[in-house]
Amino acid sequence: MKKQTVLITGASSGIGKGVAKYFLERGDNVVISSATEAKLQKAFDELGAGENIAMVVGEISSKTTGDQMVKVALEKFGSVDVLVNSAGIFETKPFLEVDEAYLDRFLDINLKGTFFTTQSAIAQMVKQNEGVVINIGSALVNHGITEMAHAAQLVSKAAINGLTFHLAAEFGKNNIRVNTIAPGVIRTPMHDGNADQNASVHLLNRIGEVEDIAAMVFTVAKSQFTTGAIIHVDGGLGAGHALNH
Ligand SMILES: NC(=O)c1ccc[n+]([C@@H]2O[C@H](COP(=O)([O-])OP(=O)(O)OC[C@H]3O[C@@H](n4cnc5c(N)ncnc54)[C@H](OP(=O)(O)O)[C@@H]3O)[C@@H](O)[C@H]2O)c1
Repeated sequence: MKKQTVLITGASSGIGKGVAKYFLERGDNVVISSATEAKLQKAFDELGAGENIAMVVGEISSKTTGDQMVKVALEKFGSVDVLVNSAGIFETKPFLEVDEAYLDRFLDINLKGTFFTTQSAIAQMVKQNEGVVINIGSALVNHGITEMAHAAQLVSKAAINGLTFHLAAEFGKNNIRVNTIAPGVIRTPMHDGNADQNASVHLLNRIGEVEDIAAMVFTVAKSQFTTGAIIHVDGGLGAGHALNH
């Protein structure tokens, strides 16, 4: 299997960090990024701080962060083969209480962060005539839950599905694949230790683990004929729900 250079945003924690570990353990090079230097440095050290890893501290809604990740990848490893857009935030607030500043925070980090980091990476992938972008979306964008007031976060993630279809179409001719993985509820620091209480939203009646997502990200990165796909790794949340658990 070809050794790849994998750029991963939101890699100081949770899914992004698990994805970095998964690729490193299988021999790939990674460039990890997040906005909080101390957290990113800790992840960098935990991931082995070896020759196969580099880090870039930066706010993801600023295009300079994506540009810097590409620059570091080229200087250290010579290519940009995979981009995993995992940086993101989740909070809830009833729809009628959402103001413009609150909505903008989700659009800036979750949507614009993915949009412009992808722009930085695809500019290089076009030169290579090869590459794959894997967004971390959400299975909840087409499955409303009465008790979960996350309209602002939800629209920022829903737009990523549209972006996925479009970019797959615009860059298929350049041999660049663009896919989104739509997780269910995954055990990460995002849930402050409360994730298990949501097990019943999945047909499998358990929450997902970071490794469940990392394994699919790796598979999509190494596959050659999947593009424009929204791939649910959600324990069946998107398919239906049980009345009795
Ligand atoms: N966990 C779930 O149940 C679940 C379900 C569906 C989708 N997702 C998605 O999966 C992705 C990862 O979530 P997670 O559960 O792994 O959460 P997490 O453990 O809280 O990790 C979030 C990561 O995003 C980074 N980040 C947040 N805001 C940033 C910003 N403004 N600029 C740069 N980096 C920023 C954080 O870095 P620093 O704090 O170090 O800056 C951290 O590395 C998110 O996009 C989330 O929406 C998660």
